[in-house]
Amino acid sequence: MASPLLELSELRQYFGGVHALDGVSLSIETGQVFGLIGPNGAGKTTLVNVLTGHARGGSGLVRIAGTDVAGKPPHLVASAGVARTFQGVRLYHELSAIANIIAGMHRQRMHDIGRELFAPLGRVRRARTARHAQALGLLELVGLPDEVADRPAATLAYGQQRRVEIARALALQPRLLILDEPTAGMNPLEKREIGRLLSRLSEGGLTILLIEHDMPLVMSVCSRVAVLDFGRKIADGEPQAVARDQKVLDAYLGTETSCGSASEDDTTQAEGATSSTAAAITTGARPATSQTRPGRGLRASDLHVHYGAVHAVRSVSLAVDEGEIVTLIGANGAGKSTLLATLSGVLRPSSGAATFDGLDLTRAKPARIVAHGIAHVPEGRQILGRLTVRENLELGGYTRGGSRRLAADITRLEERFPILAERRSMPAMTLSGGEQQVLAIARALIARPRLLLLDEPSLGLAPILAESVFGLIAELHRSGLTILLVEQNAHRALSLAQRGYVVETGRIAFSGSAVELQANPEVERAYLGSDPRL
Ligand SMILES: Nc1ncnc2c1ncn2[C@@H]1O[C@H](COP(=O)(O)OP(=O)(O)OP(=O)(O)O)[C@@H](O)[C@H]1O
Ligand SMILES: [Mg+2]
Repeated sequence: MASPLLELSELRQYFGGVHALDGVSLSIETGQVFGLIGPNGAGKTTLVNVLTGHARGGSGLVRIAGTDVAGKPPHLVASAGVARTFQGVRLYHELSAIANIIAGMHRQRMHDIGRELFAPLGRVRRARTARHAQALGLLELVGLPDEVADRPAATLAYGQQRRVEIARALALQPRLLILDEPTAGMNPLEKREIGRLLSRLSEGGLTILLIEHDMPLVMSVCSRVAVLDFGRKIADGEPQAVARDQKVLDAYLGTETSCGSASEDDTTQAEGATSSTAAAITTGARPATSQTRPGRGLRASDLHVHYGAVHAVRSVSLAVDEGEIVTLIGANGAGKSTLLATLSGVLRPSSGAATFDGLDLTRAKPARIVAHGIAHVPEGRQILGRLTVRENLELGGYTRGGSRRLAADITRLEERFPILAERRSMPAMTLSGGEQQVLAIARALIARPRLLLLDEPSLGLAPILAESVFGLIAELHRSGLTILLVEQNAHRALSLAQRGYVVETGRIAFSGSAVELQANPEVERAYLGSDPRL
């Protein structure tokens, strides 16, 4: 039998007392789509960092097609044919999408540069034109329209940026493509498109290592799956067998059903009494909840927002009454995050009005907006990486001044999410992706907001933790907090929310009660992803 394309043996990476990777071995055959799953903080990203040379101080054996690359720097591992994407987007923000993809062609360019210096101008131009055409082809392959090509990466929606990253990795023409949560920030339909892309790439002979929390995607594209937990491998085998493994159910999936349906139809975990966490952090909100107080709350009318020439939000009007939970759903790039950033004062609209309990959100400074009771959990976390976990939490409460109640609130959140206590004194950037997401949500709650703007709270969360966060959102709502929720898991969002708006290319396409939207065949087809033809 041919030797595996990737062979890892006894991989270890310790960070002080944290055994991020504790003797993991696995091998990936050529042409395989190999899934790597496991709870947040299990060591998945660390494994990729060690194998690609992005982490220092690890040990173990790493062989690519029989060649030992253990401890080699990233560019040499890339030369051996390994391309990767990062869990957090790492694009050149100011460069266009197409320039980012061309930057991924450096293996061809290194070869070209020597020639280019001496080649006739015509040939240099032809090479450039060919690279440009190749990059446009990759853009199309990952499902992005041509219009995106010349836009600076920073102005693209999160899910679009993730696709540009995949295109850039493919530009390296790798033998092994490693994707760290490529579909985080995408809706079910878009996830399926990525699934189809991965299957096509695999049919074309590419070997893929896929880290994902979306179980239907993992189950549909992977031919083998390994599971990490606390830095150790707890299962490795056929996807169906792994999904039935009791250790995997206990550590990762929670229940067997969550593996078939991405927890879409699960009922709220936290039905019943409101927890002390929610009660403690919503004392600023109106308690006792089942009724809303129309007239008070968030109002936006005829809002327009531009990024330069791009008209991202077009004449959006919406209302969230006090005590309501309302969701915004829609495709990547529809304008949902832009809308939330406008309501929290981070972006300014070009025209239109927005108020929250009398405060003009189009003019007030962000700090004033926070002090008025609005907290925003931005997409992609944006925690302060050099500050400790504790300092990040304390910053969340800066409008409250130092107080014993602030300390008590932090303690309650630490009890709810123990990782915040375990890593209290560590720089926040050392947390795993999902752990950072929990910190971002906790930081917003510490401000004791009256209105919470939540931008994809489940981003990067493993199934069990995602359920815990959805449970917390339900509790917060029951204890009186007003919530505007953007979420790619539209089924889950509509099961939590009272009303919803569907955003399409910057406009509100539909709105209605959550029940109406769930029953609307057009919404179902476009966003809930239940069309059997898909
Ligand atoms: N530089 C570091 N210093 C200290 N601890 C770290 C560092 N990098 C990672 N860790 C810790 O190592 C563990 C594994 O982290 P890793 O990022 O590999 O998890 P993961 O499986 O990718 O999780 P997620 O699904 O949340 O992305 C976590 O507990 C994390 O906090
Ligand atoms: Mg990770």
